[in-house]
Amino acid sequence: MTQDEAKALVGQRAAAMVEDGMAVGLGTGTTSVMFIKALGERVRAGLQIRCVASSEASAALATSLGITVMSLAELPALDLYIDGADEIGPGLALIKGGGGALLREKIVASAAKQFVVVADTTKEVAVLGRFPLPVEVIKMALPLVEHKLTDLGLQPKLRVRADGSAYLTDEQNYILDCGCSRIENPEETAAEIRNIVGVVEHGLFLGMASVALIAGEGGVVERFE
Ligand code: 5RP
Repeated sequence: MTQDEAKALVGQRAAAMVEDGMAVGLGTGTTSVMFIKALGERVRAGLQIRCVASSEASAALATSLGITVMSLAELPALDLYIDGADEIGPGLALIKGGGGALLREKIVASAAKQFVVVADTTKEVAVLGRFPLPVEVIKMALPLVEHKLTDLGLQPKLRVRADGSAYLTDEQNYILDCGCSRIENPEETAAEIRNIVGVVEHGLFLGMASVALIAGEGGVVERFE
């Protein structure tokens, strides 16, 4: 099975979890795209749901598929949030933000009763940190935050677009991708980063996901906290 096939399989499985009348949070990234497309098929077949998206891109895709997308102000309580991850570690600790949407993803996830992670087996790790940890930063604070992250032993690198310009999030902030190698104590690292003035959010999602659907050669396996 290719990685794309695994993403499509897990996207379909996640879409099957959505029930009539639910308020659903839509994640961001290639696995979430598969989920949103599968959800769009169910909506076309008559499923009645309302959604909140974690990015402009996911909102545009969902809307194009006939899915009702509302703001968090209009729909502040969600039944389910479904999203991918860059790494899934022990206890369903996650690194997210490879797609640049970590801030809105964390906000929408926090509004949901249940957060279901969708991924393929390549995302599972024994220790978080191989994937550079994204940190969203207020523009003005960039040099200060860069310094302080380096003092924590991280290697921050400004995310840039293909044309060399700085990447901007949907909230118009910068992202520093922080090389870490191994995050031995995610809670401690999260607290240290959160403590830096000018950091808006970091990509460690701890204690948020309750189940992961992971697609591999044997099909989809469920992993719990
Ligand atoms: C976007 C994210 C994505 O969920 C994460 O990057 C995984 O993406 P993909 O499904 O494309 O591998 O956090 O900000």
